[in-house]
Amino acid sequence: MEKTAFITGVTGQDGTYLTKLLLQKGYSVHGLVRRSSQKNTYRLDEMCLTLKKEMRQRLILHYGDITDAINIYNLIESIQPNEIYNLAAQSHVHISFDTPIFTSDVNALGALRILEAVKNANLIDKTRIYQASTSELFGQVSEIPQCESTPFHPRSPYAVAKLYAHWIMKNYREAYHLFASTGILFNHESPLRTENFVTRKITLSVAKILSGCQKNLCLGNLNAKRDWGHAWDYVNAMWKILNHHQPDDFVIATGQQHSVREFVSKSFACLGYDIRWEGTGLHEIGISKVPVFREEHLLFNDSSALTDLPHEERPVVLVDPAFFRPAEVNTLQGDYSKAKNLLGWHPTISFDDLVHEMTLHDYQALTQNSKKF
Ligand code: NAP
Ligand code: GDD
Repeated sequence: MEKTAFITGVTGQDGTYLTKLLLQKGYSVHGLVRRSSQKNTYRLDEMCLTLKKEMRQRLILHYGDITDAINIYNLIESIQPNEIYNLAAQSHVHISFDTPIFTSDVNALGALRILEAVKNANLIDKTRIYQASTSELFGQVSEIPQCESTPFHPRSPYAVAKLYAHWIMKNYREAYHLFASTGILFNHESPLRTENFVTRKITLSVAKILSGCQKNLCLGNLNAKRDWGHAWDYVNAMWKILNHHQPDDFVIATGQQHSVREFVSKSFACLGYDIRWEGTGLHEIGISKVPVFREEHLLFNDSSALTDLPHEERPVVLVDPAFFRPAEVNTLQGDYSKAKNLLGWHPTISFDDLVHEMTLHDYQALTQNSKKF
């Protein structure tokens, strides 16, 4: 029988990939979309263009907001979903320091609103819930790598709110026998990543610098290390977690970590450019021999033509304290053994392939656009 899923955060990076996965698996997918003054479904719209009409017809979008308990109850009661994926969040860690109360309302109480709706609509025996937990829960890490039993030490309003959501899921599982599972997901990226997360900021900036549209890239902590995977692998893990025979908590990661500095070097290297790092702290710079553009070059669209342009060596990466956080998470590296053993999940897309895909996507989109004008 066809299953029905309800996804909050359907317009985000993960929501878009998860929608595609569930439609491919034959689900009817209901998604929660916030009203906004500008279109916020562009990722979903583009993804849907790649699907057959029959699949697109199984996607139904509803206006709503995770902060509106009545709206959430009414939707869940009428959809009667087999599976709920609670992905809605104010997901930017740095911005959570500026908007701590809003972030807590969405990220912490949002999860509770879902649980209460399922309980009060008498759906405990029917509906499984997935909560988007995060490696940010480990924060100031007490062991390397981090697994399900590693103690939590959140370092931002974002992570503290997510810790509430994580525990309220476990609490309703114990108290009401709700099928409520969590995925403690480490950073995962893709060409659909929002532009103010560091990976996408880097790949977009590299593309712009190497096509003459931007002078340099300003970053914060270049030493931060993350365990970066690909979002497509991670939404597959979400589905496996919810289709396991019992509710549980799983770390989803690659087991490898890289610094922000390495990500930058790798992204430039994808387009054939080396970076030399000089200086330390706020005075560190990344230098490269990059093309010098004149007006007529700004319309070129062939990456091989880059080598024909005159080149100059100059700083292309700078450090700007505006991007430092009041409290930083310096290092994250996950141990996904439990997911591998119990779910048969493992990452399939390497770090190199991830950086390559994101960099080429942004470079090609930019150079093809400039061709149009
Ligand atoms: P994202 O791209 O920022 O998407 C967040 C989604 O939440 C968007 O659809 C957004 O809607 C929606 N949203 C925000 N506030 C809402 C509200 N008040 N009511 C309803 N919807 C709201 O995030 P993502 O990278 O896909 O991540 C998905 C989830 O996984 C998030 O909960 C995130 O915290 C968590 N997570 C992500 C990672 C990662 O590395 N990506 C790792 C661990 C955990 P708009 O489009 O209208 O803004
Ligand atoms: N955003 C950003 N911008 N981060 C920078 C910059 C910059 O200019 N320069 C350095 N960084 C560093 C941050 O300080 C952080 O240590 C690291 O790059 C990664 O930052 P983000 O890409 O913003 O991601 P995040 O790790 O803080 O949070 C993401 O991953 C979490 C899982 O660990 C988000 O997707 C969260 O929602 C998710 O829970």
